[in-house]
Amino acid sequence: HRERKPFPADFLWGAASAAYQVEGAWDADGKGPSVWDIFTREPGRTFQGSNGEVAVDHYHRFEEDVALMAEMGLKAYRFSVSWPRIFPTGRGAPNEAGLAFYERLIDALRAHGIEPVLTLYHWDLPQALQDEYGGWESRRIIADFEHYCVTLFQRFGGKVKWWVSLNEQNYNLTNAYQLGTHPPAVQDRKRFFAANHVAFLANATVIAAFRRHVPDGHIGPSFAYSPAYPASCDPAELLAFENAEEFTNHWWLGTYCFGRYPRGTLAWLRETGEAPEIMPGDEAILRAGTPDFVGINYYQTLTYTTNALDGVTMQRINTTGEKGTTPSSGVPGLYRTLPNPRVETTNWDWAIDPVGLRIGLRRLSSRYALPILITENGLGEFDTLTEDERVHDDYRIDYLRRHIEACRDGISDGVQLLGYCAWSFTDILSWLNGYQKRYGFVYVDRDEHDPRDLRRVRKDSFYWYRRVIASGGVDL
Ligand code: BG6
Repeated sequence: HRERKPFPADFLWGAASAAYQVEGAWDADGKGPSVWDIFTREPGRTFQGSNGEVAVDHYHRFEEDVALMAEMGLKAYRFSVSWPRIFPTGRGAPNEAGLAFYERLIDALRAHGIEPVLTLYHWDLPQALQDEYGGWESRRIIADFEHYCVTLFQRFGGKVKWWVSLNEQNYNLTNAYQLGTHPPAVQDRKRFFAANHVAFLANATVIAAFRRHVPDGHIGPSFAYSPAYPASCDPAELLAFENAEEFTNHWWLGTYCFGRYPRGTLAWLRETGEAPEIMPGDEAILRAGTPDFVGINYYQTLTYTTNALDGVTMQRINTTGEKGTTPSSGVPGLYRTLPNPRVETTNWDWAIDPVGLRIGLRRLSSRYALPILITENGLGEFDTLTEDERVHDDYRIDYLRRHIEACRDGISDGVQLLGYCAWSFTDILSWLNGYQKRYGFVYVDRDEHDPRDLRRVRKDSFYWYRRVIASGGVDL
């Protein structure tokens, strides 16, 4: 037994959101449509056809939301900028009304001493660029993305010091090009790796530009990190687990952090014909744009077993909230998932595994030797608003408490942890799961179909997290 180290005094106690999930105002003040504005209108794409046209109307209520953040004592707020709010067709001259909205938000945060953490891209690609050249499948996006990002660096670089480049390139593009569940809803592994290659180049290009424009700032990607477990100590299952680690985690993290594709994985993809086309100069671009920190969105671990060459392929995830409905998912010849009988799960079958967070922090810290920022962690659950206007979300408090304890264990293990952004501050639209799967400290009164009055109600977890922050993580 040893004493756990305290959280550092400058620890970023935060909460997070993303533009499409909170803002609403989908066509206000000159904003152009994003791929999500269009995709969610197609029948059957999302839970009961839910979409972000109104979302939780943060665009019009951000002052009230920031006042709640200040009341809670938040030290940091992670939000994303909607690219088509700034460039309605993806490029050209910026839309001043869009920039002005984020300027007001940033100023309000800073006035309350809340550090803005700005995500450049959280999946809401301008539809115009998808139509014009296929979005992430074309190298043309690199210049357009750089132009958009540099516009934000120039405008906000003096006020915003923490930046996230791409949010969950791995999860978003897996959904978009393997599962067919995010726009453009393709199922093709060759195109999946090609789109990822372009995204890696775009990510590195904007990090290199960031160094020139915001030399005193910090930037990194946010990665959807699910540490892998083997289903047993059978060597064949350990090999499947190693395969999953290499193909689902280090393919991205290694490329980001070392500016170079992991060679073993690349060789395997060349044999299967799925490898991206790497042009001369591409790896120099990757090397010139490595991050200051690794951002991780941690929700769960995944447990793996072997998969025959003609075995299980990628399967859609549970989007209904019916426990036990998630099928096995995998890549033939490499790995497939199994439920882990040793951990509890949420109603959406996500493993609740705080020890997995400690394990993941240690794995990343020892392999990449970079500071880590937890850019998301939280519990999506059904919540009930009581007649006396309360939400007794003790299950969420329990989840967050155990994960924050795991952070403290990670720090004691030697991990340089910069901060913890709980997902989410208010309730949000869960992309494919509607408004019933709630994450917030602040309940928003609306459902899939009826925006009702969108009133904000502090959940029990709101008061709990306020105490946690005030005590620097001592009073858990
Ligand atoms: C991450 C995303 O995938 O996890 C968030 O960055 C998302 O935008 C969160 O909301 C939770 O996922 P879900 O599917 O429950 O909304």
